[in-house]
Amino acid sequence: MKLWQKADPTQSSVANQFFDPTASVNVSQGNYFITLKLVKGVTFINSMTIGDQTVSPTVYSKEPDGGSGMIAFTQANPDEVLPVDFSLQVPLGPNDALIPMNQWALFDFSWSQATKISNNTPVTPNVTPNNGQVVVTPPSQTSAATTPTSTSSSTPAKPVAVSAKVTPKKAKVPTTTRTYVVLKGSSNSKSMANKYYTRKATIQKVNKHYNVQLKVSYNKSLKLGSKAVRPVTINNRKVKASTVKFGQTSKTYTMTYSFNVASFKTLKHLIKGSIHVTVPYMKISQTFPIRFKFSQKAPAKAHKAAKIIASNQQTTDGRVINAIGQ
Ligand code: HEM
Repeated sequence: MKLWQKADPTQSSVANQFFDPTASVNVSQGNYFITLKLVKGVTFINSMTIGDQTVSPTVYSKEPDGGSGMIAFTQANPDEVLPVDFSLQVPLGPNDALIPMNQWALFDFSWSQATKISNNTPVTPNVTPNNGQVVVTPPSQTSAATTPTSTSSSTPAKPVAVSAKVTPKKAKVPTTTRTYVVLKGSSNSKSMANKYYTRKATIQKVNKHYNVQLKVSYNKSLKLGSKAVRPVTINNRKVKASTVKFGQTSKTYTMTYSFNVASFKTLKHLIKGSIHVTVPYMKISQTFPIRFKFSQKAPAKAHKAAKIIASNQQTTDGRVINAIGQ
């Protein structure tokens, strides 16, 4: 976990010195019970608003350096980046008098670097809603069942070898591509999303229909987190969350999803869609309508390749007959 300046998310926040960079996270049924350790300055914090939750720190000791303690809050399916508002009282007045101060920053959780500590059946921690605040009793040795620990370094997260390497399956189905542009929902000008979609769809023939896969890719340096863009609808249908794949490369976060069309004719019309975009430091969390305009031209090379693959027919005993070779 690391904090960035809200006004300039490429700059480290002064708040980092107060937090232990490793957060403890207890995951139960999609809820993340997050505990952040404060190594100093806990008595300077009146409250913090993290995402949409206001929390007050628990003080372990008042000395030295403003004391130590912890902050606990819950998030369902949390984003990589969460805005935080600090309501502080700092001893900067005459004779160390406390002066109120409000500061803002961005929490950056490196979920991809989380290490699982225990795999036991999760126990729901004792969460008591209290005037809009959430009080989480610090998990005891016995109740802290599943405790993935999230850590982060000051450099942007490097890809970690957490996922097993999967050998890509050889395409058994004809595959081709089509380029497209992303237009705004209500005018024919390009949407901001056009910058972040790859503008080349992968189209596969599945049984009697075609599956059109779209991909979004944006730089990690934008500090938007791994799930800043979620598809809501495509071609007038809701996108099932389970069909959306979030991924990353060393420099980018990626998101792919797809929709089915009966034939290429459908792609002659504008395809309507909508996406939910979160930009934490601009407090944007909104669903925007967009439209996809597909090129009618098949790329010469890919088209040829698709034809060859298309002519590879699998027989009932699993042999592949290459029509060209026959
Ligand atoms: C660098 C980070 C980004 C910033 C600072 C940003 C900022 C903004 C702002 C200020 C608006 C206008 C909002 C309004 O009128 O209420 C907007 C609109 C929009 N943004 Fe972003 N955005 C960012 C990233 C993205 C990404 C990654 C996507 C999607 C892939 C996206 C898609 C959209 C869409 C679809 C709109 C609606 C207007 C349009 O279609 O052009 N934005 N954004």
